[in-house]
Amino acid sequence: MSYFERHIFFCLNQRENGEASCGDHQPQVAFDHCKKRVKAEGLAGPGGVRVNKSGCLDRCAGGPVAVVYPDAVWYTFVDNSDIDEIVESHLKKGVVVDRLVLPDSVGR
Ligand code: FES
Repeated sequence: MSYFERHIFFCLNQRENGEASCGDHQPQVAFDHCKKRVKAEGLAGPGGVRVNKSGCLDRCAGGPVAVVYPDAVWYTFVDNSDIDEIVESHLKKGVVVDRLVLPDSVGR
């Protein structure tokens, strides 16, 4: 039994050299919203879900990205309603939100 059932990491990295990066898409807004929703749903804390910030996860071309472990499911998202769906479906029930999954072909 692990301390948290799941982690979701949001890349908040902003590249300054003009290359694509998650920071171009206001990832802090999604991060803050996810944290709020996880807490409101009673999922936060030991045995539940931990929402973490991350540096570059090396899949920048798909940004903004977030990854859920231990499931190793990668997501991209557009707005807070997408985050709501990830929280409600995946983080709460363990059901992957297929429409938001980042294709394996997307890298840096
Ligand atoms: S900047 Fe987010 S994955 Fe690289």
